[in-house]
Amino acid sequence: MTAPLNWHFPRVELAEKLMDRFQIGATTALTLFAPRRMGKTEFVNKDLLPLAEKQGYITAYVNFWDRKQNPADSLIVGLTRATGSLKRTAKLRSMLGRITGGSISTPIGGAGFTLEDKGEADKLDIIQQLFDLLLKDGRPLLLALDEVQHLATDRKFEPIIFALRGIIDPNRDRVRVLYTGSSRDGLRKLFARRNAALFSSSQQIDLPTFGRAYLEYTAGVFKQATARTLDINECAKAFRTVKKVPYDFRGVIDMLITHGGTDIIAVTELYLADNSQEETYRSSWDSLKPMDRLVLQYIILHGGVGLYTAEARAHIADQLGLDTLDTAPVQNAVNRLRRDGHIASVAQGQYELEDPYFADWIVTAAAR
Ligand SMILES: Nc1ncnc2c1ncn2[C@@H]1O[C@H](COP(=O)(O)OP(=O)(O)O)[C@@H](O)[C@H]1O
Ligand SMILES: [Mg+2]
Repeated sequence: MTAPLNWHFPRVELAEKLMDRFQIGATTALTLFAPRRMGKTEFVNKDLLPLAEKQGYITAYVNFWDRKQNPADSLIVGLTRATGSLKRTAKLRSMLGRITGGSISTPIGGAGFTLEDKGEADKLDIIQQLFDLLLKDGRPLLLALDEVQHLATDRKFEPIIFALRGIIDPNRDRVRVLYTGSSRDGLRKLFARRNAALFSSSQQIDLPTFGRAYLEYTAGVFKQATARTLDINECAKAFRTVKKVPYDFRGVIDMLITHGGTDIIAVTELYLADNSQEETYRSSWDSLKPMDRLVLQYIILHGGVGLYTAEARAHIADQLGLDTLDTAPVQNAVNRLRRDGHIASVAQGQYELEDPYFADWIVTAAAR
């Protein structure tokens, strides 16, 4: 029998670096940022948490995007799953039973209550108790909170932020937290919360993009799967074409497997055509105010800087058929674009489009 294919390219060094910060640096919280589909979730689940477990941690993984309307449910599901690795003494089991009135069960499966039956206060109580249970285990706890910026998207999630803080803060000696997020602005917004001192003490780490080793690894697995050999330079070119997004590169490779041959460049074009966001981009573009469109174009063409200069404003005013333009309307446009997730502030006075493909689309298609 042949071994199953393993497409996962391990990020061992990064995992070790993070764990070192937790262990040696005594850091309580770290934040890992990368745009969507760059490999955060896979890194956390396949590299970081397994390493943490080897080092003697009990780990819990929570993804706030798995139930966007109900972050409390996401927490309960994640913490409940983590209790699965508790040393199951009779005492712990009976405690677990008491928390949930018979059996731990969630909409993920099993019998008993479903989370829909519980009120918010009950849920916060369950979260607290699950957490206490995890801490009773004796091992330090590594809590991974994926897409945590989601908690800052709605006022009604505020109690969850408070609950998390109330749980994590008093247990700083035993608990380490990894926050991950897909939106720089979203994370900033969450961490800037006046009452969330906990978040602001977190150090940020960017998830590095993959290099040649990843391409060689993937080409190796592709060869195992198909007995075909890929040219690494062509792979590098294809990878750049998909903006170094592993999700898309994997999509290209899958397509190449069924397509046949080794022409990864041609298949990349096919992949991009098949996954075209043409309609989505066209309709978001059409829904934008003229002012906002000009601001987006200016950001793309000028590397995101100088948006408020007299020159930039004169240029935008000219396009709008106005004599002059104050900074206020530009600022308003920026605020709208940030609120709707089109742009993020990457540094003081510097902006970037959240979706690099939308930026390309604007350059080539919007003018038509
Ligand atoms: N370390 C890796 N090795 C191989 N492929 C990866 C790796 N990380 C991510 N990928 C590919 O990219 C896809 C998206 O990764 P994911 O972790 O879901 O991204 P994110 O959480 O940042 O949105 C995965 O489904 C996988 O195909
Ligand atoms: Mg993810």
